[in-house]
Amino acid sequence: MAFRKITPQDISQFSNMLGDRYVLTDAEQLERCSHDETEDLRHMPEVVLQPGTVEEVSAVMRYCNDRLIPVTPRGAGTGLSGGALPVLGGVVLDMKRFKKILKVDKENFQVTTEPGVITQELQEVLKSQGLFYPPDPASKGSCFIGGNVSENSGGPRAVKYGVVKDYVLNIEMVLPNGDVIWTGANVLKNATGYNLTQLVVGSEGTLGVITKIVLRLIPAVTHDLLMLVPFYSATDACKAVNDIFLAGYTPSALEFMERDALEWSMRYIQSAGIDLPPEIQAHLLIEVDGNRLEQLFEDMEAISAIMQRYKTGEILFADSHEQKQMLWALRRKVGEAVKSNSVYKEEDTVVPRALLPRLLETVKRVGQEYGFHSVCYGHAGDGNLHVNIIKANMSDEDWQNKLPQAIRVLFREVVAMGGTLSGEHGIGFVQKSYMDIAFNDIQLGIMKKIKDVFDPKGILNPAKIFVN
Ligand code: MLT
Ligand code: ZN
Repeated sequence: MAFRKITPQDISQFSNMLGDRYVLTDAEQLERCSHDETEDLRHMPEVVLQPGTVEEVSAVMRYCNDRLIPVTPRGAGTGLSGGALPVLGGVVLDMKRFKKILKVDKENFQVTTEPGVITQELQEVLKSQGLFYPPDPASKGSCFIGGNVSENSGGPRAVKYGVVKDYVLNIEMVLPNGDVIWTGANVLKNATGYNLTQLVVGSEGTLGVITKIVLRLIPAVTHDLLMLVPFYSATDACKAVNDIFLAGYTPSALEFMERDALEWSMRYIQSAGIDLPPEIQAHLLIEVDGNRLEQLFEDMEAISAIMQRYKTGEILFADSHEQKQMLWALRRKVGEAVKSNSVYKEEDTVVPRALLPRLLETVKRVGQEYGFHSVCYGHAGDGNLHVNIIKANMSDEDWQNKLPQAIRVLFREVVAMGGTLSGEHGIGFVQKSYMDIAFNDIQLGIMKKIKDVFDPKGILNPAKIFVN
């Protein structure tokens, strides 16, 4: 499809629709919306639009659809697969004005929110009313709930509480042609027709623009305990993960960090935080939560006994709120620490949990074969390993040509284990050339037809998920 460039006439039409101050063409705003948190990628939009109502989103979409102008929706720009990059130029639809929590329905344990609410702020408002929305991506202090729904985000608590898809009941969205629909109903069970809600969750802004979200909630939990377990061997740390579940425990978080991940994060946030003896190769950060503290102490004791089947260093039990905060900050800042340290590429591999040790070994073996260093960390309890491939002294030529081959080899092995390419970061722009490893032509054909039904002219978030 040949897209059209934006003209001065388009700009004045957008101004009529939204008001001048919400039509941005200055260099600073274009630059801000030219990137997200994905590596060092930059693609300039031609204009940034900031609609404030569903009617305005609808008017913009109808206008752009009629004139073949590409539109890329944007949340807080914290994505890690390039989903918000306007790779074909055109409009960035910046949803930051959609920042109202519309209704907390305490009786029904539901909240209706606009997509531009910061996830942590939503969680705090709900917590103050005894309600709990668990999904907590590492960027929860800055990401938007709309972006989380678009990417089907996870985060550390997914191991016990599930990911975003497990909480979305209903979505209001604007289709590329400007029509506005709700995808389902505000109910806990729904066997009525195709599940459009779940189709839209994780569709990476390619099917419609989300304008309202209804989430299911659960009662707030009152207590949690946290411990950090050092291991002499990273493979042992991965093996210990499954033992916890086999013994009948489901922690509320079970995170893995290779030595480099923790060391880089400590340096990045300048925390003298914890002692890191040279022989320690990896850590597990383990949290349990619930409403009965004695029960949690018992669980922690039982889990630490399981850990001692392996060669571990001294386990650190966080004994204050501040220490818990410090340990979580170290974990949550690993991604940023890696980014600040080196040119890198991040993969988001996921396998059936019991195969986590094999996944780690495969990453290291492929790294050795192709000459790359990796820093691995992530949601071990979900079998979800973030593999940060570090450029270090790899030549530019190898980085450009050899690395994609190495990633293909890695992904093939992941898929052969019953795993897949992305657990929570999405495919977006940077992983699309590997989709043929996860899906054959028939499967990809079905997905492309779905895209076509929603967006026959292909104007919405083009050049994402599929190669063509
Ligand atoms: C995390 O688990 O820290 C997030 O997915 C972010 C990241 O991997 O950079
Ligand atoms: Zn993650």
